[in-house]
Amino acid sequence: MCGIVGYTGGHQAAPILLDGLSRLEYRGYDSAGLAVRNGESLAEVVKATGKLYHLADKTDQGRSLIGTCGIGHTRWATHGDPSVTNAHPHVSGNCTGSGSGAVESDVVGVHNGIIENFAELKEKLLHHGYQFYSDTDTEVVVKLVDYYYKKYKIGPIDAITRTMVRVRGSYALALMFRDYPGEIFAARKDSPLIIGTADEAAYLASDVPAILKYTRQVYYIDNLQAARIAPGSVKFYDLNGDEVSLPLTEITWDAAAAEKGGYEHFMLKEIHEQPTAVRDTLNSLVKDGQIDLSATGLTDDVIGSLTQVDIVACGSAWHVGMAAQYVIEDLVKLPVRVELASEFRYRSIPMPGNTLVIVISQSGETADSLAALRVAKERGATTLAVVNVVGSTIAREADHVLYTLAGPEIAVATTKAYSAQLAALDVLAVQMAFLRGTVSGDQYTHLLEELATIPDKIRRVLEDKERLQWFSSKIVNAHDIFFIGRGLDYAISLEGSLKMKEISYIHSEAYAAGELKHGTISLIENNTLVIGVLTQSQLFEKTVSNMVECKSRGAYLMGITTNGNFAVEDSVNFTVYVPRTDEHFVSSLAVIPLQLLAYYTSVNRGLDVDKPRNLAKSVTVE
Ligand code: F6R
Repeated sequence: MCGIVGYTGGHQAAPILLDGLSRLEYRGYDSAGLAVRNGESLAEVVKATGKLYHLADKTDQGRSLIGTCGIGHTRWATHGDPSVTNAHPHVSGNCTGSGSGAVESDVVGVHNGIIENFAELKEKLLHHGYQFYSDTDTEVVVKLVDYYYKKYKIGPIDAITRTMVRVRGSYALALMFRDYPGEIFAARKDSPLIIGTADEAAYLASDVPAILKYTRQVYYIDNLQAARIAPGSVKFYDLNGDEVSLPLTEITWDAAAAEKGGYEHFMLKEIHEQPTAVRDTLNSLVKDGQIDLSATGLTDDVIGSLTQVDIVACGSAWHVGMAAQYVIEDLVKLPVRVELASEFRYRSIPMPGNTLVIVISQSGETADSLAALRVAKERGATTLAVVNVVGSTIAREADHVLYTLAGPEIAVATTKAYSAQLAALDVLAVQMAFLRGTVSGDQYTHLLEELATIPDKIRRVLEDKERLQWFSSKIVNAHDIFFIGRGLDYAISLEGSLKMKEISYIHSEAYAAGELKHGTISLIENNTLVIGVLTQSQLFEKTVSNMVECKSRGAYLMGITTNGNFAVEDSVNFTVYVPRTDEHFVSSLAVIPLQLLAYYTSVNRGLDVDKPRNLAKSVTVE
C-alpha cells in the first residue's frame, strides 16, 4: 500500500524514481507523483492520477524533470479521494492549487501509513497560519515538520524527531528540505522503508525490488528511527536525535526474480516458481534427512513444553493456518486455534500455559498481523513469525523467525509465498510431532520423504495447465462459484475461492461441505459451478455425496482429487487429478489447479491479473 522511492547521486533522478515506482506498482495505487531538485533550485513537483504511465508521460519519461535528488510516491488513497491534489509529494508552503510545479516550500515530502491524530494537528497548524490544499494526513505531517523546523530553528533531524513524538499512527516518510540540497531525510514507524547505498549514491524505497537494479547493500531502518541520506552517506538517528548505527545487509535475491522473465504476468511466473519456492524452503529446514530449526531459535525444550498453538494471519496466510491446523492436530495432538489477525487483536483470548503464537505473513508488514503479534507478546506467549520478506517488521519483532524462501512475490494474489508457507508449517508440524513423541522415527522418515517429493509433484500438476485454461473459458461468465471440501480440503477450498474472487471478480464462496445443507444449498441453481476438493480418503465419499446433492439441484461440478480416484468421474462433469502423496501434504498439490483456474479466468475476462482493483499487496493500514 503506497510505494515510496528516493534517490540522490550523480544521475538524473526522475527516470530512476519512475523505474523504482514501476517495481512497486504491485503494492497497489491510484495516483503517483515525483519531486526532484536540481542543486539549490526549488523542488519541482509533478503528480498524476491513475497508472504510472500518466506520470511518465507528463515528465517525458522523467527526462523533463532536471535534478539529481528526488523522491517519488504511488498513493493508495486513505484520507481524501484519488486526485492530483491529494497525490503525493506534499509541500509545506501555503500554495494554492494542487501543490505542483516549482514549489516555494521549505519541506517537500511523501508518506506511507496513516496519521491517526491528523485532524487535531491540522487544527493546531491552522491556528498558526498554515493553509491546506489537500485532504491528506500527509500534508499535515509535512507542515508539522516545517512548523518545528522554523519555530525552533533546528535542523531537519530534530524537526523530524519532534514530529515523530507528536504524531500517532504509522509512517514511512521521505522529506527534502530546501536548505539541504542533495539530501533526503526519512523516518519510519510501522510502515516499511529500506535505504540502499552505493558509491556516490543513496536510495530509499518501500521494498527491495525498487532498488535491486542499483544496489544490494541495504539498511532496514528501525521503528521510530530517522535517517539522513546523501550521495554515498547514510546516517541514522533515534528519537532523541542521537546518531545510532545499523547493520548493512546484503540482498541475495536474484534481480531476475523481480522481473516477469518472459511470462505474461507475474502471477503466472510465480505459479511456475512454486516447485523452487517449496524446494528452497524445505531445503533450508531439512538437512541430511533431519529437520533443523536452529536458524529459528526454537529449541527442543520450547517445542516440548508447548500446551497450545495459536495461528494468526490474514487472507491467504490465514488459509495456510487453517490447513496447518488439521496437520498439527493430527500429527502433534496439540490444541490449535486459527484466528484472523484483525479479530484476534481486539479479543481477550486467554493464553494458558505455554502457548506458541505463529504469525504467518508474506510481507511481514501486514498491520493487523503485526498488531496481533504485539498482543500475543504482551500476553506472554512465545511468538514465531513465518515470513517471506527478510528484515520486515514482523520478522524483527517476533521471538523466533522462520523465513520462507519464495523470493520476491510481485503479483497481488499470492501463490508461491502461500505454497512456501504451507511447506514451512508442514515441516514444523512434523518436527513438533517427532520431538513430542506423537510420531515414530519411521513415520518421521516417511513424512520427510513425502515432503521432499512435493516440489516435483507440483511441477507435474503444472504440466496439466492447458486443461484448466480450457475449462476456465467455459466458466468465464459464471456469476457464482462454490468451493467445497471437508477437513484439509475445506482449507484448500477457502484459498481456491479467494484466488478466484480476488482476480476474476466472480463471486465465490468456500464452504465446509457438510454445511451446505444448513442454508447455502438454496443458492444452487441451474449451472451454478460447484468445485469439490476431494483429496482426503476418509472424507471423499461424504463430499462426493454433497456434490451430487448440488448436481441434482442443477449444479455443474468440477472435482479435484488424487490419481486413481477415477470413480469420481461418474459423478462430476470435469475432474482434475493431482499425484498421490501423504494426505497431510496433498493440499500443496490440490491448490495448484485452483490457482491456475483463477489465473486463466481472470485473463479470459480481460482483467488486470497482477493488480486487481482495490487491492494492495501489502496491507500496512488497518
Ligand atoms: C491473497 C493475498 C492476501 C494476503 C494477505 C496477507 O491472494 O495475497 O490475502 O495473503 O493480505 O498478507 P501477508 O501474507 O503479507 O501478511
